[in-house]
Amino acid sequence: MNTENRPREQWGSRLGFMLAALGSAVGLGNIWRFSYVAGESGGAAFILIYLFCIAAIGLPILMAEFTIGRRAQLDVVGSFQKISPGKPWVLAGYMGVASAFIILSFYGVIAGWSMFYFSQYVIGGPDIGGEGGSLDFFVNFHTATFAPILWQFIFMLITVGIVYVGVKRGIEASNKILMPLLAILVLILAGYSMTLEGASEALNFLFTPDWSALTDPSVYLAALSQAFFSLSLGMGALITYGSYLSKKEKLPGAAVGVASMDSLFAIVAGLMIFPAVFTFGIAPDSGPGLVFIALPDIFADMSFGIIYGLLFFFLLTAAAISSGVSLLEVAVAYFMRKFEWSRQMTSVFIGTIIFLIGIPSSLGFGALADVTILGERDILDSMDFLASYIFLPLGGMIIALFIGWGWKKADALEASNFGDTVLGNIWLWIVRIFAPLAILIVFLYSTGIVTF
Ligand code: PFF
Repeated sequence: MNTENRPREQWGSRLGFMLAALGSAVGLGNIWRFSYVAGESGGAAFILIYLFCIAAIGLPILMAEFTIGRRAQLDVVGSFQKISPGKPWVLAGYMGVASAFIILSFYGVIAGWSMFYFSQYVIGGPDIGGEGGSLDFFVNFHTATFAPILWQFIFMLITVGIVYVGVKRGIEASNKILMPLLAILVLILAGYSMTLEGASEALNFLFTPDWSALTDPSVYLAALSQAFFSLSLGMGALITYGSYLSKKEKLPGAAVGVASMDSLFAIVAGLMIFPAVFTFGIAPDSGPGLVFIALPDIFADMSFGIIYGLLFFFLLTAAAISSGVSLLEVAVAYFMRKFEWSRQMTSVFIGTIIFLIGIPSSLGFGALADVTILGERDILDSMDFLASYIFLPLGGMIIALFIGWGWKKADALEASNFGDTVLGNIWLWIVRIFAPLAILIVFLYSTGIVTF
C-alpha cells in the first residue's frame, strides 16, 4: 500500500466542496425516492419522522463523516485504517465500498429512465395522449429489455467520464452550475403545481399527519433509510469528499448547509409532485414509477410544458449524475489507492462492473419480472433494501460509534472544528449514545424483534 508519494487531489474552495457534497446529497433520492416512499408510507407522519431523523441522527453523522475524511485525507477504507490501525472499525469502510456498488447499480437504472424521458421531450414530448396515458407509456418503456439498459449504459458512461477527469475539474465544476439551476426549476414547477385542483389534497397529504400511520413499525425504518439515502450517509461518500478538503476549512456550517438544503429540496419536490398525483388521479402509493407517471401529466397540462419537461428531466439527470459520481468515487478512491491503479483505468473498470451488476435490476421489471428476492421485492427493490435499509444505517451506526468511542474526546472536538463548546459536546453525546441507540431501536422495532 503506497499512499504517501502520490499527491492527493483537493477541492478548489470551501464553496466548491459544499456544492459537491450537496450535489452528492441532492439526486434521485430527493425527487424519485422521496416522493414514492412518502406516497407508500402515508405522507405527513412519515415526513415528520424523516425530518427528525435528518436533524437528530443524520446531521450529527454527517459531521462525523466530514470529520473522519478530513482528518485522514484518505478513501473510506484507508480512513479507518489510518486513524485506528488494526481495529475492526474498518468494517464500515468495506461495507461502504460494497454499498457504492449496490446503490450505483440500481441508481443507474432509474437515472437511465430520467435520461430517456429527457430524450422524449427533446423530440416533442412523450406520447401519452393514448388511452392508458402516462402510465401505459411508462410501463411500455421500463418493462422493455434493451432500451432501459441502453439508457443506463449512457448514464454510466457520463458518470465514469466525470470521475475519470478528476475531483476538481470534473465534479466540482459541474455542480457549481447545475445545483442552483435545479433549485430554481423545482421552485417554479412547485409553484405551478400548487395552482392545480389537487393542491389542497396534496397539502393535506404532505402536512396533516395521520397519526395512526405511526403504529406501523415499518414507517420508522423507511424514514430512517430515506434520511440516510438522501444525505448520502453511512457509506463514506462524505468521508471521501471530506478527504479532499484542506485542514483550514470549517466543517459544522458546511454540514448544516448540506442537510438543510437537502431536506428543503425533498419537501419542495413533494409540493411539485403530489398536487399532480391528486389532480390526475394517480395512486400516491404507485411505487418507483410515481414521478415518471405524475410529471408528464403536469407537463402535458401546462403551456410550454414541453420546455419545462425538457428542462426538468435534464436537471434531474444532472442531479443523478452528481450523486452517481460520488457513489463511484467511493469505490474508485479505494481501489486506486489499494492497488495503485490509475484513476482512469480504475474508473472505467469499476464503472463497467457496476453497470453489469445493474442490468438485472432493470430486467426485473420485464424479462425477469417473476424473480423476487428478499421478501416479495423485485430485484431493484431488493438492492435498494439491502443497501438503504441495512448497510447505510449500520454503517452510520459504526461511524457514529467510531467518533464517539474510538477517538479521544479532545481530538474529536478539535478535528470537527467544534472545539470544546456546548454544541460540540451535544454532538459527541449524540454520536456516542443517542444516534446508535436510535438506529438500533428502529431496527429491532421495525423487524418485529422488539414491540412496544
Ligand atoms: N443522496 C443521493 C440521492 O438522494 O439521490 C443518493 C446517494 C448518493 C446515496 C451517494 C448514497 C451515496 F453515497
